[in-house]
Amino acid sequence: MVEWSRDALARCATLDELSEVVRACRNCGLRQQARGVVFGEGAPTARIVFCGEGPGAEEDRLLRPFVGAAGKLLDQMLRAMGFDRFRNAYILNVVKCRPPGNRAPTEEERERCRPNLEAQLALIRPAIVVLLGATAIQAFIDPGARVSRVRGQWVVRDGRWLMPTYHPAALLRNPGWKREAWEDLKKVIDKYRELVDPAHDTPYYPLPKRAESSRDA
Ligand code: URA
Repeated sequence: MVEWSRDALARCATLDELSEVVRACRNCGLRQQARGVVFGEGAPTARIVFCGEGPGAEEDRLLRPFVGAAGKLLDQMLRAMGFDRFRNAYILNVVKCRPPGNRAPTEEERERCRPNLEAQLALIRPAIVVLLGATAIQAFIDPGARVSRVRGQWVVRDGRWLMPTYHPAALLRNPGWKREAWEDLKKVIDKYRELVDPAHDTPYYPLPKRAESSRDA
């Protein structure tokens, strides 16, 4: 039987090993009321991570992140950006167990789950982390940060480029915010082209055309 400890987290060499350890976590009270731990999913080699708040009812039922209504919108956002959760992106949450009644996790719950999150990021080693909504933004940037104040502006921490933006559930409630969200996501595509793959393409935000002069040369 695997036991949870910070040492056990640090010893993991793969995400599969890590998920076993995180599944044994009882570091806060959330696990007691949840069906299980929602570790996260995606391509282990992804250079971009999308971080939400915590599992909702559907995620807790299926033990997979972002599989409810907000998840469907997130998948559309990924597709528009040229990403896919199993091919070239990783999806996870600040807390791995569902807060009862879909409330936001408390600061203490966030902090107790932080070693799990940090261990995931240490193995994935993303160049870019897209912070979806207030909980992720507060966990990564500043406990007092407001989405409306900080969204769309890069923050560099621990060698990672962080882009705060709206949570897809907020976009479902406020479709008028989608325009601003797309501006943020275009910045993410630009940064991904700069840091990871200059040829990264998507029909919704095509690569800039090469200059005439370089074609003639
Ligand atoms: N909202 C989140 O923040 N995460 C999920 O996994 C699902 C909904």
